[in-house]
Amino acid sequence: MRLVMIGAPASGKGTQAHKLTRHFNLDHISTGEMLRAEEAKRSELGLVVESYLKRGQLVPDGLVVKLVGERLALNHLAQGFILDGFPRTLNQALALDQALTALGQAIDAALLIEVPDSAVLERITGRRADPETGRIYHLKYSPPPPEILSRLEQRDDDTAELMQARLNTYHERIAPVVAHYREGGLLVAVDGTSSPDAVFAQVLRLLNSRRSPG
Ligand code: AP5
Repeated sequence: MRLVMIGAPASGKGTQAHKLTRHFNLDHISTGEMLRAEEAKRSELGLVVESYLKRGQLVPDGLVVKLVGERLALNHLAQGFILDGFPRTLNQALALDQALTALGQAIDAALLIEVPDSAVLERITGRRADPETGRIYHLKYSPPPPEILSRLEQRDDDTAELMQARLNTYHERIAPVVAHYREGGLLVAVDGTSSPDAVFAQVLRLLNSRRSPG
């Protein structure tokens, strides 16, 4: 199965992608994580990436398309993948179609997680990541075990100020991407406002109904 996952910052893309990855044995490809890994290297490319991330803006299409293209071309993707946070612009969506066609592959569904802007701020400020396991928690909605609290980290861009910039960027660019997948009959819209497990049950139900219609 080959999936793309679209949604506002903190809509739950990573949380659902993690669950889908385990359920369907997919490769989880998160462009946000790939870009933060580049940033952490402090390389020339990493510094360019940082300049966009710290303003809550998208990195240029050419840069992210290249990173994703290289990853998709790897052989171990035979069992399928989930692209988390890509595409975010129409150019990225078209480049993805082209790259997959060249590999003899295609997207099976584009999951759109819908959450109102009013809900994402609390999700952002409460998010914490465990650097040892990579697991994402929320202080209120997905509380970590007390014994690991002191080692948890908060992302640099998880501030109320940057949140608004990230949301604005999302809304400015995503409509043509959503239209692209809707026109292709691939769009699967999911209500992301219930609990993570309830959202996941909804995702599975919608994906299964596409695989065996009627
Ligand atoms: P990225 O890392 O993709 O950030 P984002 O899109 O802002 O999304 P987040 O990772 O913040 O949230 P999420 O939707 O994964 O939510 P999560 O599951 O963690 O990108 C970062 C930056 O990189 C971008 O701003 C951009 O600059 C750049 N970038 C990335 N991709 C790019 C691209 N394709 N092109 C150009 N630039 C790109 O959940 C959030 C919190 O809520 C967690 O604490 C979680 O526990 C909690 N939560 C999750 N689900 C629920 C629920 N149902 N109920 C209650 N709480 C929940």
